Amino acid sequence: MEFMDVIVARTSVRSYADKPVEEEKLSKVLEAARLAPSWANKQCCRYIVVKDKAKIQELAGGLNGWLKQVPVIVVACADPKDSGDRNGMNYFLVDVGISMQQLVLAATDVELGTCWIGAFDEAKIKKALGIPENIKVVAMTPLGYSADKEGLGSKLRKTAIGSGKRKPLAEIVHQEKW
Ligand SMILES: Cc1cc2nc3c(=O)[nH]c(=O)nc-3n(C[C@H](O)[C@H](O)[C@H](O)COP(=O)(O)O)c2cc1C
Repeated sequence: MEFMDVIVARTSVRSYADKPVEEEKLSKVLEAARLAPSWANKQCCRYIVVKDKAKIQELAGGLNGWLKQVPVIVVACADPKDSGDRNGMNYFLVDVGISMQQLVLAATDVELGTCWIGAFDEAKIKKALGIPENIKVVAMTPLGYSADKEGLGSKLRKTAIGSGKRKPLAEIVHQEKW
């Protein structure tokens, strides 16, 4: 796909077909994540790929009950000590954000759906996946083929979670000063 077509096509997918993800596609999206820039090239981001159905059940639940039917969940983690600290901000969230978004866009390019998940119980995820104490879980995404026609996912997007609409450029870009 053309780059801007990928940007426009990406959407949060919350309903997945019962179809496995090809290893070749999985490798491609992980490679896109790997190539991301990071603070001082420290590459703090670590991914856990979960395909085991029982583990997926453990990661799903609560608000994220719909994750139970996905073929793959990718969990993005980092050790905050492996990133930068400046102006009172730790940049591991930025590092992981950039890397994860490269993964998400690469997935869109190979026609795989994703959905950033930030609302999860970190302690539960860490326990389920044996993640060490010093590591932060930043985000998760399901990965798979969309089954989202006019299902729950689309409905949620149009109502509770937002319409997918974006603010106009004039509202988010200031010229010359704030
Ligand atoms: C950091 C972050 C955290 C998010 N957390 C969740 C989440 O926990 N559950 C969920 O269903 N969607 C989550 N989303 C998806 C947003 O709701 C979604 O991106 C937004 O409504 C715009 O819709 P779109 O992605 O379809 O363009 C998250 C997105 C981001 C960037």
